[in-house]
Amino acid sequence: MPTIALINQKGGVGKTTSTINLGAGLSMLGKSVLLVDLDPQAHLTYGLGIQAHELDYTVYEVLRGEVTASEAIVKRDGLEVLPSSLSLSAAEMELSAMAGREYLLKEALAGLPPRDFVLLDCPPSLGLLTLNALTAAQEVFIPLQT
Ligand SMILES: Nc1ncnc2c1ncn2[C@@H]1O[C@H](COP(=O)(O)OP(=O)(O)O)[C@@H](O)[C@H]1O
Ligand SMILES: [Mg+2]
Repeated sequence: MPTIALINQKGGVGKTTSTINLGAGLSMLGKSVLLVDLDPQAHLTYGLGIQAHELDYTVYEVLRGEVTASEAIVKRDGLEVLPSSLSLSAAEMELSAMAGREYLLKEALAGLPPRDFVLLDCPPSLGLLTLNALTAAQEVFIPLQT
């Protein structure tokens, strides 16, 4: 699946805003789009009106291998979202001892039926979550403040 990571180690440069609006634009063009929220602050998830703290499953449980990506995906306004929540903040430490820890997202997405585009909204850091986005993506989109 064509997978694009929106990455910048700096916060507040427009990663989440760009992910949501690129997703909405592609969806309006008739493309099937999956947005993945990889930021424990869950701004993409909340920004789409999904109450992250009320979800049973998020990308955190998917990365831990407890549920499949399909089980955690939420549909919203014609988009599909693999949501995040604050629990994802534990992932950096918990997953750091796992073998193949850089490929957990790539493997989880590989099990999905194909979409036209997958957009990955990254946290403002160069940790394990961003590393997982880099191994899952073929392209990187770097929003920045000029
Ligand atoms: N193209 C833009 N022009 C002006 N403001 C923007 C633009 N993109 C995002 N913003 C604003 O910048 C702030 C940070 O954006 P956000 O997408 O949350 O950044 P990040 O995900 O990189 O932390 C938000 O208040 C957002 O509304
Ligand atoms: Mg963000």
